[in-house]
Amino acid sequence: MTDPDFVQAFDGVMKGRYANRFFIDRPVPHETVRAILEAARYAPSGANTQPWRVHALAGAAKARICADILAAHDREAAQHASEYTYYAPDLPDRYQGRKQEFGRVFYGALGIAQDDAAGRASQTAKNYAFFGASVGLIVTIDRRLETGSWLDLGMFLQNVMLAAKVRGLDTCPQETLAKYHRVLRRHLPIAPQDIVVCGMALGFCDTAAASRRGVMERAPVEAFASFHGFEAPPARDTGE
Ligand SMILES: Cc1cc2nc3c(=O)[nH]c(=O)nc-3n(C[C@H](O)[C@H](O)[C@H](O)COP(=O)(O)O)c2cc1C
Repeated sequence: MTDPDFVQAFDGVMKGRYANRFFIDRPVPHETVRAILEAARYAPSGANTQPWRVHALAGAAKARICADILAAHDREAAQHASEYTYYAPDLPDRYQGRKQEFGRVFYGALGIAQDDAAGRASQTAKNYAFFGASVGLIVTIDRRLETGSWLDLGMFLQNVMLAAKVRGLDTCPQETLAKYHRVLRRHLPIAPQDIVVCGMALGFCDTAAASRRGVMERAPVEAFASFHGFEAPPARDTGE
């Protein structure tokens, strides 16, 4: 029988993870980053193909890359583009509505008005310093792989985030870093056949700042799951 305390703790890690964008300047030891990747590599993948590749950055290497990306972002953002499309150009209403709600909650909590383009841009730029996290991950996948392998990569990334969380570290996955793959390629041994999928900030949370973040609600189970063939749940005791 599974220990209910362990179940609660495990679920708590999943429910407690969020995209943290506030970090303190405290180094994450190399062994910790390695231990996170060591646990995450147990992610499942189709036919055990394990299509993930990670470049972990810290210290001077990270600083050099961030400086170059920020310079490119300031001077020539329009000349940089991701090699893949994250959002469908015509998001169906359900998803478009959630995306708008995200913007409302996210920028609202930061005190940035909807029409404040400069405010939004300066928030976006924080991505390129990994929000001040001491570690930045750059995640790539072989472009010859298909959608299924991207599914595998997502599982690996979730493992990384949960392995970090359980070690007292926070993360923020960052698709926006894919835009600057040409800059990243100047610094990192990214093979030509590899696509930069995302970055990830990893570090110690600035808890005071993070407590003021916008909390992203989730749709309830009923909104995305239907159940078939289960026994009816026992009738609630109404006390009558
Ligand atoms: C693959 C992926 C890419 C993301 N890219 C970014 C990003 O570039 N910048 C950012 O601030 N947040 C990014 N996010 C974080 C999402 O906005 C966040 O996960 C979502 O709003 C739900 O909020 P929560 O994770 O805090 O619960 C990304 C999330 C995922 C899963």
